[in-house]
Amino acid sequence: MSLASVSRMEAKLLLPTYERQPILFVRGRGVHLWDSQGKRYLDFLSGIGVNALGHGHPAVEAAIKRQAGRLIHVSNLFFHEYQAELAQRLTEISGLARAFFCNSGTEAWEGALKLARAFAQMNNRNGSKAKWRILAMENSFHGRTFGALATTGQPKYRAPFVPLMPGVSFVKFNDLDDLQRKFDPSVCAVGIETIQGEGGIRPVNAEFLELASRLTQQSGALLMLDEIQCGLGRTGRHFAYQHYGVLPDVVTVAKPLACGLPLGAILTTERVASCMHPGMHGTTFGGGPLACAVAIEFLRAENKLLKHVRTLGEYFHAALEALDRKHKSIQDVRGAGLMQAVELDSLELAKAVAKQLLEEGIIINRTHETVLRFLPPYVIQKEHVDRLVKALDAALPKNAESADEKTQTREKTAPPRHKAVHAHA
Ligand SMILES: Cc1ncc(COP(=O)(O)O)c(C=O)c1O
Repeated sequence: MSLASVSRMEAKLLLPTYERQPILFVRGRGVHLWDSQGKRYLDFLSGIGVNALGHGHPAVEAAIKRQAGRLIHVSNLFFHEYQAELAQRLTEISGLARAFFCNSGTEAWEGALKLARAFAQMNNRNGSKAKWRILAMENSFHGRTFGALATTGQPKYRAPFVPLMPGVSFVKFNDLDDLQRKFDPSVCAVGIETIQGEGGIRPVNAEFLELASRLTQQSGALLMLDEIQCGLGRTGRHFAYQHYGVLPDVVTVAKPLACGLPLGAILTTERVASCMHPGMHGTTFGGGPLACAVAIEFLRAENKLLKHVRTLGEYFHAALEALDRKHKSIQDVRGAGLMQAVELDSLELAKAVAKQLLEEGIIINRTHETVLRFLPPYVIQKEHVDRLVKALDAALPKNAESADEKTQTREKTAPPRHKAVHAHA
């Protein structure tokens, strides 16, 4: 089917929830994708952080073929060979003790919220008073289901669906005073993305994370980190919190875990896990043999790629900082490992640059209006970074003038800098 007929049919048949780029992808290999016209694209987004091993990775392909021929689904009423092995590996690398498998990021976060409420009911350290409030961060993103939405600190996502789950308060991200002010013994959990992804690649400050850890520990609340986008090798360590030396009570992961097959996980401590008993939580599909077998392969490959991610991440970050020194339109460069961002001074410019790069065959993403987000596969090489940086270098001045005309010229201000997470390590 052609792009025209697919898009005509989708326009008639699907809920109008997506504004897709007019490209029909048919094939991928390594860091490249091909569209239906045979045009090749360099993938600096990896399906929003999912295809971390690139496309068509031989070990992933072999695992899918092998397992699809043996057993795809059994439900969680029975055992299969891979959940325990995957849980063992995830607990080893995270420093946590137990896992629960689900199908997506939002579902993992949803389960984490349930854990927080159940744990507080079982271990209420607030005497006879309620302990069920959740502190979430402004500018955060945790997913589209009701609990995740209720803790997502961006009104545009919540507004159409109110009323949401009660008991959530938002704290200004990285504002120690605001956290201290809003935290009290009625709080059962503090939820933080270690690096806010959709909110524009904004790392949590070390002092803020330490305060959240201290407050939650002192009052018997949980520190819950959402590493659905920044976890599992994206920053050059297994988990982004490992740059800070803080161990959360709960961490959620998803995106790259099964290389494009739907799989998410909640990881937690023995103590928190003890508040669950059979029947309290569950899923039909989550943690099936196919997805888990692939995830075991992913973790094998991820382990070998961590150093490469750190090296390439530093190279990439330095190249973006060099662009920052050269281009007035760049407001900030942020990120860690292969989770990087360039914040521009106007929405029009960000849109124009992303569009031009796509025309040139480079896939990036624009998030939070003015932020160009880069989440390339872990297997990219320097030459791919060079190609992207060269394209940005040319696209920025070319598009800046026309964007300026639309927005009226804004002087480059000196915003607060949020440097790479590895600076805290
Ligand atoms: C940090 C974070 N949490 C949760 C989610 C939701 O994940 P999913 O789209 O798999 O439900 C996302 C997705 O972008 C995310 O980046």
